[in-house]
Amino acid sequence: MPIPLSRPPVDDEIKKAVIAAVESGQYILGPQCKEFEKEFAAYNGAKHAVLTTSATAALWMLIKAFNAKAGDEILVPAHTAFPTIEAICFAGVTPVFVDVDDTYTVDVKDAAAKVTPRTVGFVPVHLYGHPANLPEIQELCAKHTLWLLEDCAQAHGAAWQGKKVGSFGRAGAFSFYPSKNLTVMGDGGLLVTEDDEVAARCRRLRDHGRQNKDIHAEIGFNLRFNDIQAAVGRVLLRRLDAMNDHRRTLAARYNAALTGLPLVLPTETPGARHVYHLYVVRARERDQLAAYLKDKGIATGIHYPVPCHRQPAVEYLDPGPLEHTERLVKEILTLPISAGHTESEIDEVAAAVRAFFTK
Ligand SMILES: Cc1ncc(COP(=O)(O)O)c(C=O)c1O
Repeated sequence: MPIPLSRPPVDDEIKKAVIAAVESGQYILGPQCKEFEKEFAAYNGAKHAVLTTSATAALWMLIKAFNAKAGDEILVPAHTAFPTIEAICFAGVTPVFVDVDDTYTVDVKDAAAKVTPRTVGFVPVHLYGHPANLPEIQELCAKHTLWLLEDCAQAHGAAWQGKKVGSFGRAGAFSFYPSKNLTVMGDGGLLVTEDDEVAARCRRLRDHGRQNKDIHAEIGFNLRFNDIQAAVGRVLLRRLDAMNDHRRTLAARYNAALTGLPLVLPTETPGARHVYHLYVVRARERDQLAAYLKDKGIATGIHYPVPCHRQPAVEYLDPGPLEHTERLVKEILTLPISAGHTESEIDEVAAAVRAFFTK
């Protein structure tokens, strides 16, 4: 049987929740959405949770709600999914690309070197499910009075010293895309914040800038969420910790099976709870290894082959080179992992990787 990169969970409990939501007759920002927001806020230790259509939308609304304006600069790692950058650009501000370190998350020393009088904020990304270096990021933000917005799209349930990501700065943004640690079986996103005004502004922005039914206080957009998908999210939120534990078990299994091969395996900074959204290794013979695994019916991925600062869409910013990012994108390879994978599938992938190196 082919082994996919990720396998979202589908079962009777989810199907029943979907049918109940369909039969409820309430579809947009209704009771399922309200309960999901309350439950996610409680899970993450946040005062407010605001559902929206995607993490991209959540990031965009937050940057607008922080009143960032043209000419403002925001520090952001270049090694991330392009939507992190897109949301910044769409809000009319300038991303300043920062290198990453061996955890694949932002290199805070490089970020510090890139602060200018125009810098207003920092958007670290908890890439692959590993928390970025939050204590140093908080210190840098405090020193230069920058707001901190965590991109948690890949890191639901990840934590630093027991505190959940998304709760370290002014806000956090999550994605519910099907491969994510928590999904709604489609696109979806959510933001968390302690700030009453930011939450209220985002609720307004997601609903055409509406202040009440008939009055539009500003130009927003239609970024509302729906009850059918919220019903799915509620079922899976109850399983999130168990699903993350399973991902961690699978990652440990990979680590044990792949040790000693000419690969760089993922690391965990002490104090960080990594939730292995992706299991990423580095190999000099990356492309040959990927082709070999494909031949055996094993899917792999590259997250991401073209770093954000090298994307044609941001060429106009004329970003300089970033040594570490540019080197690692040539070597990274994502192996299958998700809450839906079994231990025997991981053993099969690991055996195939070992066979590649010993053939
Ligand atoms: C790190 C990161 N940020 C932002 C996003 C955007 O999320 P969405 O697809 O929900 O807009 C993604 C999605 O892949 C992501 O991985």
